[in-house]
Amino acid sequence: MPAILEARQLSKSFGSNRALHSLDLTVGGGEILCLLGANGAGKTTTINLFLGFLSPTDGAALVSGHDAVRERHLTAPKLAYIPEQVALYPQLSGLENLDHFTRLSGRRLDQTELLAMLERTGLSQADAHRRAHAYSKGMRQKVGIAIAVARNAEALLLDEPMSGLDPAAANDFCTLLSSLKDQGKAILMATHDIFRARLVGTRIGIMKAGRLVELLDAKQVDAAELETLYLAHMAKEEPAVS
Ligand SMILES: Nc1ncnc2c1ncn2[C@@H]1O[C@H](COP(=O)(O)OP(=O)(O)OP(=O)(O)O)[C@@H](O)[C@H]1O
Ligand SMILES: [Mg+2]
Repeated sequence: MPAILEARQLSKSFGSNRALHSLDLTVGGGEILCLLGANGAGKTTTINLFLGFLSPTDGAALVSGHDAVRERHLTAPKLAYIPEQVALYPQLSGLENLDHFTRLSGRRLDQTELLAMLERTGLSQADAHRRAHAYSKGMRQKVGIAIAVARNAEALLLDEPMSGLDPAAANDFCTLLSSLKDQGKAILMATHDIFRARLVGTRIGIMKAGRLVELLDAKQVDAAELETLYLAHMAKEEPAVS
């Protein structure tokens, strides 16, 4: 299956800080690649490069073969994104926010479909009708997830999407991700949750100081082995910056 997301020698420096070193990876339809890595490892930078929010210093981020910066008009419609901190219109309800962002992406869904989408994320009907200014972090996150899913994009870029979700909601989210994978979506998710990365991911990448230091099939390891491997990488001397 051709890659929907592809990083080719993708590199990004911020001044003298080399945030990402020559990253090569692909995510095809029906794959969930989970990126693990310490704070500052380059996970968000990778996602922002695919979104075209940042320009690479070297190499390219491609979406279905198109350059994420130079051909952003072609790549943006193929992407859905869940940021770590979901921003909503505070004066609108969760349902109205979802309706608004879904229309912006050119889709029309009726109220029953929108409510069903929110329910799949674990947001109750009562909460869906409350104004977003009174939401908890997890409630905002659930609406953000529904907004991303409603775009029906080919690829999903998820930056710690489970942060703030309670365990039941995180579980619902993993079920939702698996069904999106089965629909053929390409999913790249940055997360600190080793257990759920192993559970929902088809492949796992471990990043350290801007480098991908490990890439494996999720089936190769159980959660305990993955944690041991992760910790071993974190304990190693950092590679010399070239
Ligand atoms: N806009 C920016 N300007 C300058 N430096 C940046 C910028 N964004 C990221 N960096 C730097 O790039 C490196 C990688 O950061 P990044 O946000 O990609 O890490 P991360 O893996 O997402 O970490 P976390 O787990 O904390 O979210 C860090 O050294 C960070 O300080
Ligand atoms: Mg990050």
